[in-house]
Amino acid sequence: MGSPTREQAGAARGVAVFRLLDREIDRVRRETGRTPRVLDVGGGSGTWAVPLAIAGCPVTVVDTSPNALATLARRADEAEVTGLITPVNGDVDTLAEVAPADGSDLVLGHGLLEVVDDPGRVLTALACAAAPGGAVSVLTVGRYGAFVGRVATGRLAEARALLTDPDGRTGPDDPLLRRFDAGRLRELAAASGRLEVEALQGDGTLEAWLPGPGQESEPAGREERDELDALASTVPELGEVAPRLHLLARRY
Ligand SMILES: C[S@@+](CC[C@H](N)C(=O)[O-])C[C@H]1O[C@@H](n2cnc3c(N)ncnc32)[C@H](O)[C@@H]1O
Repeated sequence: MGSPTREQAGAARGVAVFRLLDREIDRVRRETGRTPRVLDVGGGSGTWAVPLAIAGCPVTVVDTSPNALATLARRADEAEVTGLITPVNGDVDTLAEVAPADGSDLVLGHGLLEVVDDPGRVLTALACAAAPGGAVSVLTVGRYGAFVGRVATGRLAEARALLTDPDGRTGPDDPLLRRFDAGRLRELAAASGRLEVEALQGDGTLEAWLPGPGQESEPAGREERDELDALASTVPELGEVAPRLHLLARRY
């Protein structure tokens, strides 16, 4: 997947995530001679599905929101990949009814575990949908990254709640049901009984730290920033304070 097509598809974030997904696509092509079959659960309006389809992958998107699927259809049409995307209005709780077990080379659950009732059950469902030897990619909101973001913007009461609430919520009005740290994600992967963690990295590591426009002492180009972001994402200590945590696990 080349960078320009991602930008056209509106996916300016996720540099580190795309690097690992690229590697996964290459691996499947090399080992099987075909393009990976992707299942994107909670894929919403296609932030990930559209660039993956642009890269040539057939992608099934399962989502509960008809509105999000309508936006996905429009974006897919604009990117001329409608034929590669299968939208399914469905719930991860009944995933087996719409996506065959062991049927996908790459299963995405991005932005999903923080909004479902039972993240452990959901991760197990994603693992079951992946073919043995295939990969599961999970992207979640990071608890400590949210803490850093709140402190940086002076919202100290929310910052405190992020540290003291058992689920890392800012309060009863928080739209998210939980936030994750690396340890919690590893525990969930282990509890699925089917996943071996291959990578756990930050995503958007630089977001909270970059100076605003006009404040830079040394204005960085987009490429340089992305490069530094990808490098920082591989440092576990920085990953813990990134806005999002990305886990790539192998199905066994
Ligand atoms: C935060 S958005 C993430 C969208 C996309 N994956 C991304 O990373 O940009 C969460 C998506 O999950 C969907 N969703 C929430 N609960 C779901 C469920 N139980 N089963 C399937 N999709 C669900 C929502 O409709 C929404 O589109």
